[in-house]
Amino acid sequence: MSDTLTAPPAPELHKGLAGVVVDRTAVSSVDAASNSLLYRGYPVQQLAASCEIEDVAYLLLHGELPTPEQRSAFDAELRAARPLAPGLQHVIDLIPTSAHPMDVVRTAISALGAAEPEPSSAPGEHDPADTRRLATRLFGALPAVIAYDQRRRRDLPPVRPRDDLGYSADFLRQVFGREADDQDVRAFDTSMVLYAEHSFNASTFTARVVASTLSDLHSSIVAAVGALKGPLHGGANEAALELLVRVADDGGADGAAAWLDGAFARREKIMGFGHRVYKNGDSRVPTMEEALAGLVDRARASGDSRVDQLAAVYDALAAGVLERKGLKPNVDWPSGFAYHLMGFDTAVFTPLFVASRVLGWSAHVIEQREANSLIRPLSHYDGPALRDVPSRA
Ligand SMILES: CC(C)(COP(=O)(O)OP(=O)(O)OC[C@H]1O[C@@H](n2cnc3c(N)ncnc32)[C@H](O)[C@@H]1OP(=O)(O)O)[C@@H](O)C(=O)NCCC(=O)NCCS
Repeated sequence: MSDTLTAPPAPELHKGLAGVVVDRTAVSSVDAASNSLLYRGYPVQQLAASCEIEDVAYLLLHGELPTPEQRSAFDAELRAARPLAPGLQHVIDLIPTSAHPMDVVRTAISALGAAEPEPSSAPGEHDPADTRRLATRLFGALPAVIAYDQRRRRDLPPVRPRDDLGYSADFLRQVFGREADDQDVRAFDTSMVLYAEHSFNASTFTARVVASTLSDLHSSIVAAVGALKGPLHGGANEAALELLVRVADDGGADGAAAWLDGAFARREKIMGFGHRVYKNGDSRVPTMEEALAGLVDRARASGDSRVDQLAAVYDALAAGVLERKGLKPNVDWPSGFAYHLMGFDTAVFTPLFVASRVLGWSAHVIEQREANSLIRPLSHYDGPALRDVPSRA
């Protein structure tokens, strides 16, 4: 009897784990039906309007928004972590600037974990207070890593952090070497709030898989960075801006429809559109588009001759993708354009996402450990049937 006939029936597969609920979480909820994203119960739009990223960081790591006293103690912790340690600067210097900035961030987080390993009282036993402290230090330290790498690529000397500025203002100052205006600070802070957490997305799930083996915080975060780098996930903000520029250079808004027809005929994915969970628009987009609109207006007012062309292509592509595929933009669509208008190099967009999402990842590592179960799914084997290794004689 042939093996095909005796093979057991294939079990139901869940490709990409689509629609599978694998665990519970109290960190955030994404509800596609009501188009809502809540961080520990708070709508992300309200957090973006009334809080700074430091408040959101505290909320994600500690479970509640900080009191004024808790906020100032948290600020002190963050600001103490800002300076780039000489050893870490040396590690970055060893990486050629031909490397992608995500590779630099991934390596820097790994080096930070080696320099300050997460304590464990017994193998795999971590005190959540230690994990929160290290996650806070990591969140505080990443702007200097990203800024140092961005500046060395532009042959500019590093800018030391200041401890009298908030997170976003100092981040921008470390990158651009001058104090940013309020509009940039607000828009950047909004992007940080919107990027901080999004339930069981691919990188967060990666962090939880690593944490489920009782590994340490930094190993979980390094793995998550690797998952975020891909263009189907965080890398989409870079890819979205590249697309915008390509279409602007290649016919502009008038050529957008033809470009889309060609791309769909080639079955290409249009970066910055679609989402695994949201099927009727990403809840974060309106808030990010509001910040983007302000940046576009300002660029227009300052005589930026390119911005009108990019803005027209932005709208034409969004309308064209909706008309042809019924797909709406995800948050990477407006954030890529916004980061471009703030002056960041395109390759640094995904590291900016890391700087913020490290909060969500850390909150999930802490939560995974609270009720841990090793994450180890099954697979259905469909390779060759049992056979003997041929004789080598
Ligand atoms: C995010 C993403 C991976 C979600 O994918 P998914 O949940 O697996 O959705 P599917 O791939 O099943 O999409 C369903 C259909 O829409 C199409 N589709 C989805 N996103 C698309 C996109 N961005 N461009 C073109 N077609 C897209 C699929 O090709 C598929 O079409 P088909 O039924 O004719 O085969 C996908 O939308 C994508 O690749 N987007 C671009 C990358 C991006 O912006 N990522 C950031 C996400 S926040």
